Amino acid sequence: MTEIVELRGEKRTVFDASHDNEEMARRYKVISGPQFNAGLILIGVGRISIGEKVLDLGCGTGELTAFIAILVGEKEGRVCGVDVSEERIRDARRLEKDHANISFSQGSAENIPHPDGSFDVVFFNATIHWVDNQLKALQECLRVLRPGGRLVLTTASAEDISPPDQIKAEVLAEDFYRPYYQPGQKDVLHYLTKAELETLYDRAGFQDIDVFRNSSELVREDKEDEKAEEGVYVFLETSSGGHFLLHLEFPPDVLLKAQTDIKNKFGGYRKGTSIVMKRVRLNGYGIKPFAAQEI
Ligand SMILES: C[S@@+](CC[C@H](N)C(=O)[O-])C[C@H]1O[C@@H](n2cnc3c(N)ncnc32)[C@H](O)[C@@H]1O
Repeated sequence: MTEIVELRGEKRTVFDASHDNEEMARRYKVISGPQFNAGLILIGVGRISIGEKVLDLGCGTGELTAFIAILVGEKEGRVCGVDVSEERIRDARRLEKDHANISFSQGSAENIPHPDGSFDVVFFNATIHWVDNQLKALQECLRVLRPGGRLVLTTASAEDISPPDQIKAEVLAEDFYRPYYQPGQKDVLHYLTKAELETLYDRAGFQDIDVFRNSSELVREDKEDEKAEEGVYVFLETSSGGHFLLHLEFPPDVLLKAQTDIKNKFGGYRKGTSIVMKRVRLNGYGIKPFAAQEI
């Protein structure tokens, strides 16, 4: 059942983890390079270091969780992954065998299944835009951090609509789709502006807040068995847990037409054997005050 909420005056569909499945999680794992690269920058922003306890919130299939496990040291540090999707957590648990200092649990950013003050760092990569109550999520991050602990996150910038989102909006605005889709109505993404993200950090109770933008590229190459346009589409569908087009529940022929129309437009970003799309990310940083104020 699709749940609709009102967010900043717009009607939004709630992220529904039941759109996810084993195949989508498997494919995300091999295609999530752009997210991994954003996460590497974020590890630097958070100055995650040996001996620390880290929460990887919205950990997906756990590739960055495993990287952090090595960074903090198997004996000295610890990393816990939390994700709302049972499928992603089931997949990520394979890593518990290889890393003595990793554990995963299913749960939501709005209700983190860990006690107060458990972590030095909350690492929240490429996930907040899927979260329905973002203030509640940041308040939860504050709760599970020790005083002086850091929350670092990345998201896409609402001020710089990325080519895939722009293309999708253009295609679905065509008259053909009108019986199946009203523009904006079934959107799940809650991208933030820089000012909105700063305000969220502030309202949740963080200090020393720093939000900055950086640009990245979404690059997919032609493979023997898969054109780059298809690779970009698979990345978008799997990284969104089925919330790029699948959640719109179009009839099969309409879905196929939308996918084809969108992939054709991706072709406009072709450079030789690759598709290259520029995207702007927001990176957020904030510290839990030593004497946490009542909110
Ligand atoms: C784009 S993936 C990012 C995964 C991982 N952080 C990475 O960088 O590869 C977004 C993840 O957020 C998860 N997610 C969505 N809403 C969530 C919520 N409210 N709480 C926790 N996880 C959520 C999805 O299941 C998905 O695994």
